[in-house]
Amino acid sequence: MNAPLDLATTPGIAGNFGVVAGQEPVLTARNVSITYEVEPPVHAVRNVSLTLHRGEILGLAGESGCGKSTLAYGVNQLLKPPALMRSGDVIFHDQSGKDIDVVGLKGDALRAFRWDKISMVFQGAMNSLNPVITVRSQLFDVFTTHRPGMSKKEKEERSSELLRQVGVDPSRLDSFAHQLSGGMRQRVMIAMALALNPQVMIMDEPTTALDVVVQRGILRELMRLRETFGFAVIFITHDLPLLLEISDRIAVMLRGEIVELNTAANIYANPQHEYTQRLLGSFPSLTGDRGAFIRTGEAI
Ligand SMILES: Nc1ncnc2c1ncn2[C@@H]1O[C@H](COP(=O)(O)OP(=O)(O)OP(=O)(O)O)[C@@H](O)[C@H]1O
Ligand SMILES: [Mg+2]
Repeated sequence: MNAPLDLATTPGIAGNFGVVAGQEPVLTARNVSITYEVEPPVHAVRNVSLTLHRGEILGLAGESGCGKSTLAYGVNQLLKPPALMRSGDVIFHDQSGKDIDVVGLKGDALRAFRWDKISMVFQGAMNSLNPVITVRSQLFDVFTTHRPGMSKKEKEERSSELLRQVGVDPSRLDSFAHQLSGGMRQRVMIAMALALNPQVMIMDEPTTALDVVVQRGILRELMRLRETFGFAVIFITHDLPLLLEISDRIAVMLRGEIVELNTAANIYANPQHEYTQRLLGSFPSLTGDRGAFIRTGEAI
């Protein structure tokens, strides 16, 4: 098993992985507002602006119900009624140099964009694998839809490679979801999100349901993959200590608004907003000796 990350005393350690996020933007959201049109309406995201840079890990923190998932769905054009993006722009700055207006994408153009440019590991993804088809069939489906020119042999090779990359034995291609542990299911979901080499991965609470040691293993893998492939990540969780460890920058969300956005080191050392201070204060283990145990799973 992988050793736990040795990050207990070093917040904002993305640099420890040798990754320097570029300053070139890959995704820009401007003044995004999203409302659930129910009675009374829920203004879930209010006038949010954010820039994600190439290769960057941007953490999105905030209490349950503050709008994190809604924002993630919004930037990936995944909202369904009663959710409505009332205003705002989302621009994807493709590697090719072309800017894509995400909100304006429809039909085939949207299907071609999603998963290929931005992939997502959904909240509760552990339970979102299709129970009646094998892991192989699910990976093959991604290729059939997005890479119609791929031969069966290429799909087989790529699927095995993807499982290996996320630390799952390729023999698991024959498995059904119920035959996998929670951690393995999560790794398979990450493999699916990596399948097309996206430039951005949105991970919505990808490891919250897992025990801390399994969570560490998966995050380690993710950091390594990010270093190899250079994709940017929006990582959503209420686990602020975790974000402090893995993120380059952190956005703190409160009741639909981003109230603070700064480097992980600055959020840790010098939180400006009262809510950020409270969030940090609610994790006393951050500063105590026990923090090392809680966050690494290793007794000290
Ligand atoms: N389909 C819906 N209809 C009405 N309101 C909704 C719907 N989905 C979400 N909401 C509301 O929108 C707000 C934001 O929800 P969202 O799921 O984005 O929060 P979140 O920050 O992801 O929370 P969590 O950490 O629990 O996942 C909440 O007040 C929620 O109750
Ligand atoms: Mg959510």
